[in-house]
Amino acid sequence: MPDRYDDKSRGPRLQRILADAGVAARRVCEQLILDGEVEVNGRLVAKLPAFADPEIDRITVQGRPIKRRSRKVYVMLNKPTNTVTTTADEPDMDRRTVADLVDHPTADRLFPVGRLDFDTTGLLLMTNDGELANKLTHPRFGVVKTYHAVVKGKLSDEDADRIAEGIYLAERKAGRTDGASRTARVEVKVFHRDRDRTILELRLREGRNRQVRRMLASVGCPVKKLERVAMGPVKLKGLPRGGWRELTKGELDGLRKAISRGKGEPEVIRKKTSKKTSKATTKKSSSKRTRRDEEVQVSIVDKKRIKSAVARSGKKSVKQTGARRYDGGSGR
Ligand code: URA
Repeated sequence: MPDRYDDKSRGPRLQRILADAGVAARRVCEQLILDGEVEVNGRLVAKLPAFADPEIDRITVQGRPIKRRSRKVYVMLNKPTNTVTTTADEPDMDRRTVADLVDHPTADRLFPVGRLDFDTTGLLLMTNDGELANKLTHPRFGVVKTYHAVVKGKLSDEDADRIAEGIYLAERKAGRTDGASRTARVEVKVFHRDRDRTILELRLREGRNRQVRRMLASVGCPVKKLERVAMGPVKLKGLPRGGWRELTKGELDGLRKAISRGKGEPEVIRKKTSKKTSKATTKKSSSKRTRRDEEVQVSIVDKKRIKSAVARSGKKSVKQTGARRYDGGSGR
């Protein structure tokens, strides 16, 4: 591509790329460009409009490369059996991993959201959005995971009720049994029963290790087949076994809603509202923290040059606006 940065087809506006990378507010970034602080592929770009491709072009501000933001990717895999839910198998164990099956063109590394056993099939979400992944798996947010199971034997109504109300399962810590605790309520629906097997659905809000298998084994009905068919409102559909696809916007919005509907709030939020005094303390400490962060932010870039860019952009000072910090792409 020729070194022309006034060509719209090149990509987004340069000030937008800088702002998205956390350099400062967009108006401040415009001013930084006009001040001659920005280079693209080693060439000074000091005129607006200017456009660049953040994936290809090497962009620097005051000589420092900007931080690349990787796009958040959300994938649904229809996990087959004989596959480990990990990105890399243990040494000397040459098994197929879920990462082997998801070859996404733009995301380097996608992590599984929760875990399915080696022989469990079905819906496994994979993403590079660690925050969303944590919320989806943390029992505090209560996102429902739906499983279909085929078990050996006839599961009685009484045993289905026992599972629904919660049963004691051993806890394991560092590979050792460490007491037992009761499972949270489970919704159980029996679809079919005959002499030697039962087909049922279970809806869980927590995800202990091998929980479904252990609950069913404890009432004498070991699992023969287990498939996860939904996570929150997102259903396993449109995929052959071993296939993957990106989530639709609707599915992603649905997951976010399921998290915010979940009765669990992060601990800090509960603490803040539980006592009047703690609210005040939290406020004070957060304002202290903000001030300190802003100082770091301003000291990282050249204070004077940023300040003058801010002044000329007509914006309030970096401190007042809380403009995002530029860390020279180091991610510190
Ligand atoms: N419960 C299990 O027992 N196994 C799984 O893979 C998922 C939930």
